[in-house]
Amino acid sequence: MVKLNLALAALAGTAVTAKKCHDFKIPVSISANNTEFSLKPVDSEVFVTNLFLRMTAPGSTYSKSITGGMKEVHGDYELAATYCQPDGGPGKTLQILTHGVGFDRTYWDYPFANYNYSYVNEAVHAGYSTLSWDRLGIAESSHGKDPVNEIQVTLEIQALRAMTEMVKDGSLCGVPGKFNKLVHVGHSFGSIMSYGLTSMYPNLSDAVILTGFSQAPNYMPLFALGGNFAPVSSVDTLKGKYATGYIAPFSSIGVHTQFFGPGDFSEEMLDDATKHGQPAALGELLNTAGPTGKPSNFKGDVLIITGDADLPFCGGNCTDTSMLKDMSVANALELSRPNFKEAKSFTATIVPGAGHGLNFGYSHPVTYKGMLDFLKGASI
Ligand SMILES: *[C@@H]1O[C@H](CO)[C@@H](O)[C@H](O)[C@H]1NC(C)=O
Ligand SMILES: *[C@@H]1O[C@H](CO)[C@@H](O)[C@H](O)[C@H]1NC(C)=O
Ligand SMILES: *[C@@H]1O[C@H](CO)[C@@H](O)[C@H](O)[C@H]1NC(C)=O
Ligand SMILES: *[C@@H]1O[C@H](CO)[C@@H](O)[C@H](O)[C@H]1NC(C)=O
Repeated sequence: MVKLNLALAALAGTAVTAKKCHDFKIPVSISANNTEFSLKPVDSEVFVTNLFLRMTAPGSTYSKSITGGMKEVHGDYELAATYCQPDGGPGKTLQILTHGVGFDRTYWDYPFANYNYSYVNEAVHAGYSTLSWDRLGIAESSHGKDPVNEIQVTLEIQALRAMTEMVKDGSLCGVPGKFNKLVHVGHSFGSIMSYGLTSMYPNLSDAVILTGFSQAPNYMPLFALGGNFAPVSSVDTLKGKYATGYIAPFSSIGVHTQFFGPGDFSEEMLDDATKHGQPAALGELLNTAGPTGKPSNFKGDVLIITGDADLPFCGGNCTDTSMLKDMSVANALELSRPNFKEAKSFTATIVPGAGHGLNFGYSHPVTYKGMLDFLKGASI
């Protein structure tokens, strides 16, 4: 076993990037205590805009007024996933990649410009195996029946837990055997989920990488309003594919505002990302903080890596602290340091010029180097 791993490491070090990938479906049977919202989604642009205006006003009690008690939800679902490994065989470590709002699992292995922007290519080249999946409710994973009271962060974390446990005990059909180590990597809403998973189940992961993330709640209204969200029925590429209660940016202007840093992207990439954009369920957006409202119990290594021009988590400037609860921190990412008291290590990295959608910016090589150097430094 040791010999084999050494051989693989040597191979990964010298091989030109070549990866083997396949798509498959993962059945999960999960339950969670969701929040009951008294909100009946309406298929109307005015309804969606009014909802965000009501939710984002300072001092607003609207969210509270529609928030009811907890309700246990249960369901059998299928998760759409892609497993990749180096040509020579599986890596010692598996990275589980959870995308954020606006995209699907292709965010991690994006075909645009001949995979120029692919994180999976970089990770596989560095000797890792990867498992990316469409979040529950999105793209090729089951959409569920209720975008308000079913598709919520709590249930989505249970989907991630179920999948991770299958990987850990070697029972996930489509993923070979067991791995020495597991790393959870998230982007944005996927980072919120990875934070929640590794806090609630600290033994399920060796390291967590939270990309496009901070624990500054101040800037979410910019994202909510700047996205120009509309019901999916108003968005040509999504019309008919999702139920009422899913919303997406109306045009590339919303996608640009939410995900791209000025000067850090190609306009063709913005166009492509808009065409392949995915919606969010209202149940996800009614509670974006989710499990990040409290300190983490995670004991492994932690990296937060976020673009300096990130809109939702930094307001477009991570080092301006004038709006933060603790203005003495060096930047918004540092707010998380005290929340990872039990972690083996904590690193916060700001990517100059990058927007919220790190993988889609010209700066992506800096982001990927930051992520892979962190893992190497932690001997993972
Ligand atoms: C939901 O909450 C109840 C009461 O605290 C608890 O007994 C139950 O196990 C929880 N269900 C899940 C799926 O977490
Ligand atoms: C998690 O790991 C710790 C330390 O290795 C151990 O003490 C604990 O029992 C584990 N918890 C579970 C739920 O497996
Ligand atoms: C970000 O904020 C810092 C601190 O207020 C300021 O010095 C810097 O110029 C700002 N950066 C940009 C790009 O506006
Ligand atoms: C590919 O990525 C590099 C590094 O960011 C960038 O300089 C180049 O413009 C990208 N190519 C395309 C076609 O987007």
